[in-house]
Amino acid sequence: MFRLLLLGFLSILIFEKNVYAGFRSGRLNMAALKEVVLLYQTLKQEWTKSPCNLKKCGDLLGQLKVGLTHLMFLPTSNSTASQKELLIARDILEIGAQWSIATEDIPSFERYMAQLKCYYFDYKTELPESAYKYQLLGLNLLFLLSQNRVAEFHTELELLPSDQIQSNVYIRHPLSLEQYLMEGSYNKIFLAKGNVPAASYNFFIDILLNTIRDEIGACMESAYDKISLKDASRMLNLSSEKDTKAFAAKKNWNLSKDGYFYFGTPNEKKAEEPIPSADLATLAIDYARELEMIV
Ligand SMILES: *[C@@H]1O[C@H](CO)[C@@H](O)[C@H](O)[C@H]1NC(C)=O
Ligand SMILES: *[C@@H]1O[C@H](CO)[C@@H](O)[C@H](O)[C@H]1NC(C)=O
Ligand SMILES: *[C@@H]1O[C@H](CO)[C@@H](O)[C@H](O)[C@H]1NC(C)=O
Repeated sequence: MFRLLLLGFLSILIFEKNVYAGFRSGRLNMAALKEVVLLYQTLKQEWTKSPCNLKKCGDLLGQLKVGLTHLMFLPTSNSTASQKELLIARDILEIGAQWSIATEDIPSFERYMAQLKCYYFDYKTELPESAYKYQLLGLNLLFLLSQNRVAEFHTELELLPSDQIQSNVYIRHPLSLEQYLMEGSYNKIFLAKGNVPAASYNFFIDILLNTIRDEIGACMESAYDKISLKDASRMLNLSSEKDTKAFAAKKNWNLSKDGYFYFGTPNEKKAEEPIPSADLATLAIDYARELEMIV
């Protein structure tokens, strides 16, 4: 009986030794570390499936949250051991950030990025660079733009090395968008939708485009007495009547039987400069000028 127990105890020891070869920092609760590693492996396996089960990944990420805090606050006296732990933690956070985009959870994305930045900047010398580093930092820049947090956008940009700002495709993309916004070149932003460096960028681009459409909509309301459904679609860069109608409903625009949206009462508008609404070319130019004035 005693031998059996001893044997069992020894085999557990050996098992643990194998699992944790390379992870034994002696500072972290072994059971906690074991759990984190197993959860991490399950998460990684599920996340790399295509398509992956987002719900399952979310559950695993939720379970990893606590374990992760153990990994994150390790002292770094034994760099070999802690480096592996840090790499696992970084990998989990990177999956978490991408998972947040896939599930359209913006606050979660922001939380994962806040933690990741510590790995990208503070542990820069201890860890090999992640393949996802600039993709996620660029995505974070785009996120800030889409939330109109331009001051933070510039603060974050300053943290990046200047050679990456100039040449990295993931960083250049949000940077050009910011320039187009400043110039009021909304057409170029509409074009940028078809030209993203990673599919995950589309999520924030769509948010950004909706913000821009709101501005264009407000501009149309004050500039025109009425506008046809077709012209409105064109100006808003919406490809279907259905989308334009949905936008109009959100804005409280009423489509009358003649196929025009009417803005305000004619009396209010009389005092304003009349705009030749029939001439589309003129409209387009006015429109461009107005947008420039807004920015
Ligand atoms: C650090 O950890 C590794 C792997 O566990 C071990 O081989 C090494 O001896 C440790 N170094 C120190 C200085 O404790
Ligand atoms: C949106 O704008 C882009 C850039 O100007 C243009 O190429 C595209 O055809 C537009 N799409 C619609 C639906 O108007
Ligand atoms: C559209 O109709 C609603 C309800 O009749 C009205 O409150 C709103 O002001 C109208 N919108 C415009 C742009 O005239």
